[in-house]
Amino acid sequence: MPEATIESVLQEGRVFHPPAELAASARIGSMEAYRALAAEAESDPEAFWGRLAREHLHWFEPFDTVLDWSQPPFATWFGGGRTNLSVNCLDRHLDGPRADKTALIWEGEPGDTRRFTYRELHAAVCRAANALRALGIGKGDLVALYMPMVPEAAIAMLACARIGAPHSVVFGGFSAEALRDRLIDGQAKLVITADGGFRKDKAVALKPAVDAALADGAAPSVEHVLVVRRTEQDCAMAEGRDLWWHELVDGQSADCPAEPMESEDRLFVLYTSGSTGKPKGVVHTTAGYNLWAHLTFQWIFDIREDDVHWCTADVGWITGHSYIVYGPLSNGATTVMYEGAPRPSKPGAFWEVIQKHRVSIFYTAPTAIRAFMKSGREVPDQYDMGTLRILGTVGEPINPEAWMWYRDVIGGDRCPVVDTWWQTETGGVMISPLPGATPTKPGSCTLPLPGIAADIVDLEGRSQPADAGGYLAVRRPWPGMMRTVHGDPERFRKSYWEHIRPADGSWLYFAGDGARRDADGYFWVMGRVDDVINVSGHRLGTMEIESALVSHPAVAEAAVVGRPDELKGEGIVAFVTLEAGRSGDDALMAELRGHVGQEIGPIARPDVIRFSDALPKTRSGKIMRRILRALAAGEEVSGDTSTLEDRSVLDQLRV
Ligand code: WT7
Repeated sequence: MPEATIESVLQEGRVFHPPAELAASARIGSMEAYRALAAEAESDPEAFWGRLAREHLHWFEPFDTVLDWSQPPFATWFGGGRTNLSVNCLDRHLDGPRADKTALIWEGEPGDTRRFTYRELHAAVCRAANALRALGIGKGDLVALYMPMVPEAAIAMLACARIGAPHSVVFGGFSAEALRDRLIDGQAKLVITADGGFRKDKAVALKPAVDAALADGAAPSVEHVLVVRRTEQDCAMAEGRDLWWHELVDGQSADCPAEPMESEDRLFVLYTSGSTGKPKGVVHTTAGYNLWAHLTFQWIFDIREDDVHWCTADVGWITGHSYIVYGPLSNGATTVMYEGAPRPSKPGAFWEVIQKHRVSIFYTAPTAIRAFMKSGREVPDQYDMGTLRILGTVGEPINPEAWMWYRDVIGGDRCPVVDTWWQTETGGVMISPLPGATPTKPGSCTLPLPGIAADIVDLEGRSQPADAGGYLAVRRPWPGMMRTVHGDPERFRKSYWEHIRPADGSWLYFAGDGARRDADGYFWVMGRVDDVINVSGHRLGTMEIESALVSHPAVAEAAVVGRPDELKGEGIVAFVTLEAGRSGDDALMAELRGHVGQEIGPIARPDVIRFSDALPKTRSGKIMRRILRALAAGEEVSGDTSTLEDRSVLDQLRV
């Protein structure tokens, strides 16, 4: 950890209470009701989770134990039970009127729309599941998805869950190299992709990146590539390896019995950046993840039968997994999936989707909200958004101005804003207001959900007093927590459970955020305290970007830090020293940015590259990141620099 204490400067006094009519009909409609649930969880966590798991999920076989925590940090939840996520998301809604309710509304970037009722989605998933079985995919086989935002992405995820094949969704904006690393690490047997997708009014090819990832037998575990036709671009198909989705899937039977999965069977792997090394394959398992996605979706959005929920994330991120696909469908809700994004030709794209599909719950990221603020309220003011009733935000700390703008301009000053703090690792939201109960303060994610023992602690795990900064940690396991790092249990222990060492030997989960808690117990997240940069709500490890830079022949050494960025939250600044004979000019800068884009993906491209003869190091050779962060932010270098080996490098490095 770079700093042992964190000071927070943010002071915010405004409080907004839930609208009375929302509270009157909400599932959790008062702070008393919230406290009662939290107290039930506190007094007997296992009885609490056991009750909820029995009430909210379908079980082929009931579980015998709720939690086995005898080998921390490795948890076993709902041992002995058997369930299936696709049954919870689909089959159980088919008995009554929900069968003909719209499950999924898909809006394509060019304006084409597709809708699926629960019955239709169930049939589509069964056909896809039978197609996977026909390709020899069975329980335990990893299936990678590299997809645009089309319904087949959600259908493929559910089909995998149906037959017990864990999926590994790789964000379609990642490069061929990043895809290849993930295919190899996960030993994927099948890749599901598309010819391309529409982005910013253009068809963008996707399949060539899969071909590049598989070139020269680089990922020999992959036997087949299943390709959805979306853009109708020319698409090379490798004989014997590649198959068209429509040719294989459409003719399958719409009946596919679901595999009764053990609670702890792997459900999916999703890669996320850490402060060291390669991206980690975060492993989530069947029952606990399902329960957590289900409950959190119901709690934080107070879901009602006639709601239309829209989460603007990509399915390539955990937010898309939990709040486009699994949380909404498990609750029998109507979920919207949008292929596009606001773009110069359509600055009101989001508001048009809300108006067209009568969206009532809207869930997006602070970076998007800040961009909307910048283009002014004239754009959203042209649309009818009177159907909205709850607004959510996720991905990074939201500044109070953006929060207020969101509430006023998008929510018409009537919709509660739920600022939801969580991570890929936590499976679902951990700290968030309940819209019918919790008074909100702009910039605070408020209080932990019932059953979540979140705390602000020091390095010894001692709770910190009100308003003191510290590490955001969780004292008890919860059903949706990640179970391990794929293929590397030791890394799981080291990354999340060893930073904070309480004297009594208890286990605390910590994944990198600093925060404080105010006198009302409200949490204020300050951001990452490790070497992770949060760019537009996406986590990037500085190490990954450094490795990408150093893999370029001109680069001798690189150090990457974040700096505050008005729109993106954080921007990427790279400090680079070059091999002898190379000079740092604009051409090389462009080349290096392109190189990082190629290695990881466009989101990882540095905003600024600064060339110098040396990097600031201690006498023992450690790069002094604190200094680089100050330089990147254009601040004076303060604090102790006496351990700096060569002070003259500072002048060269100023951004
Ligand atoms: C990191 C997790 C969880 C889905 C999106 C990102 C930051 C997330 C908030 C919030 C302040 C937030 C944290 C966290 N973060 N939500 N509401 N307020 N910070 O998932 O890529 O796993 O990143 O995002 O720093 O550790 P992720």
